Amino acid sequence: MRTFGRIGGRALSPRQQNLVDTLLPSLSVPDAKAGALPPRSLFGFDPDEVWLEIGFGGGEHLTGQAARHSNIGLIGCEPFIEGMAKALGQIEDHGLSNVRLHMDDARPVIARLAEHSIDRVFILFPDPWPKKRQQKRRLIQPDFLDGVARILKPCGRLRFATDVKSYADEALGHFLAHPEFDWTATRADDWRTPPSDHITTRYETKQLGDCAPVWFEFQRA
Ligand SMILES: C[S@@+](CC[C@H](N)C(=O)[O-])C[C@H]1O[C@@H](n2cnc3c(N)ncnc32)[C@H](O)[C@@H]1O
Repeated sequence: MRTFGRIGGRALSPRQQNLVDTLLPSLSVPDAKAGALPPRSLFGFDPDEVWLEIGFGGGEHLTGQAARHSNIGLIGCEPFIEGMAKALGQIEDHGLSNVRLHMDDARPVIARLAEHSIDRVFILFPDPWPKKRQQKRRLIQPDFLDGVARILKPCGRLRFATDVKSYADEALGHFLAHPEFDWTATRADDWRTPPSDHITTRYETKQLGDCAPVWFEFQRA
């Protein structure tokens, strides 16, 4: 597994540093010593659903969905402190009380989440690792999908987006080969067009990939 750095490229502003020091500890998912994570108990209220975003970058989608759905609890995982600091700023600006955060690799959190406890998972523009020799580092792998299938409720949904053609092809192959995931698309527009509830992400706007974004929505059996 690759090592996750918490050090970003640029220094945080004083406000961001203060948010990391004071707000992040109160919103962080309990650390591994706490053992299993019953996700509904992480929030100060009983959420109707719990959603998980893996690799939220600057947090535009995570906090945007949280602002739209105050009855839903959102857990966001992002190892890089710059993105975390941006998300914390949005959480404070909008007074969001339904977001919990993990500043590290999502995979150990997934392993601690209870079976069938998550309603939706978002993986939006994951690191593309475009070079052939790097592709084994891609997040979407069969054992990763086993872990996500375990925590998703039956009929729970997973959204995956990428603008890298080889990743789209490879990820779709892994999802279609997995016994627990059904692709919900019935026509080309279902994967070519952003879903109506999507919130544009920072990485998406950079258009760094080699194809138009694809939007794959899967339902857990
Ligand atoms: C290409 S960026 C996209 C960020 C955001 N989803 C967007 O669309 O703007 C991928 C992000 O995933 C994060 N990431 C990579 N591997 C991860 C992992 N195992 N767990 C959590 N986050 C991860 C990276 O730190 C990075 O911020």
